[in-house]
Amino acid sequence: MENKTIEQAGKLFQKHSISDKDLAAGFEFRNIMADEAEQVVEIEQICFPPNEACSEKNMKDRVAKAPELFLVAVDKETGKIAGFLNGLSTNEHSFRDEFFTNANLHNSSGKNIMLLGLDVLPEYRRQGLATELMYRYLKRERENNRQIVILTCLQSKVKMYEKMGFRDEGISDSSWGGEEWHEMRCVIGT
Ligand SMILES: CC(C)(COP(=O)(O)OP(=O)(O)OC[C@H]1O[C@@H](n2cnc3c(N)ncnc32)[C@H](O)[C@@H]1OP(=O)(O)O)[C@@H](O)C(=O)NCCC(=O)NCCS
Repeated sequence: MENKTIEQAGKLFQKHSISDKDLAAGFEFRNIMADEAEQVVEIEQICFPPNEACSEKNMKDRVAKAPELFLVAVDKETGKIAGFLNGLSTNEHSFRDEFFTNANLHNSSGKNIMLLGLDVLPEYRRQGLATELMYRYLKRERENNRQIVILTCLQSKVKMYEKMGFRDEGISDSSWGGEEWHEMRCVIGT
């Protein structure tokens, strides 16, 4: 099973190094900067309903404590963030809701990553930007010797994450926002 997800991630890396050069040319991909915290707070409120969105305080804590676990796509024309991924690293193996609310759980040398959010502003959607962000994030974290990237998502997003190389592990323990979540994982290293 693990080999299969590594293989899937490998295919994603291969596909992207060929196909998404044009998309990538319009954006700068990098870690977040401290003065961009307000931007990601705002984007999170646009992208998620109030029961699912990360609060301003929690997002600012994440930016302060784990900026290296963000990846932002900055539109080169406007200089503003168009989309981003963020997470925390840990040696834990399965998701619990406290990762959403307590950035102190971040352990910079942790082998695994709990992904906490993938956001793309509406005007930038359906061009492959989320896929590009994920590809670059997985590649970067594989190079950082991480092993497993774990996330939770609603049923409606399971197929999207499967396309991005993740495997559905079934219903998670999470009850975030009063909803039912699937836990998904992508093995990127051993
Ligand atoms: C979901 C989201 C990140 C997708 O961003 P995007 O840049 O449009 O995604 P991509 O263009 O890379 O799409 C890749 C694939 O994901 C799937 N997909 C995209 N948006 C989707 C959506 N809203 N629901 C289900 N699947 C979706 C499609 O299969 C798509 O491939 P296709 O265009 O060939 O059909 C974006 O719509 C968003 O920020 N939504 C609100 C926040 C959210 O739901 N985040 C994910 C939380 S688990």
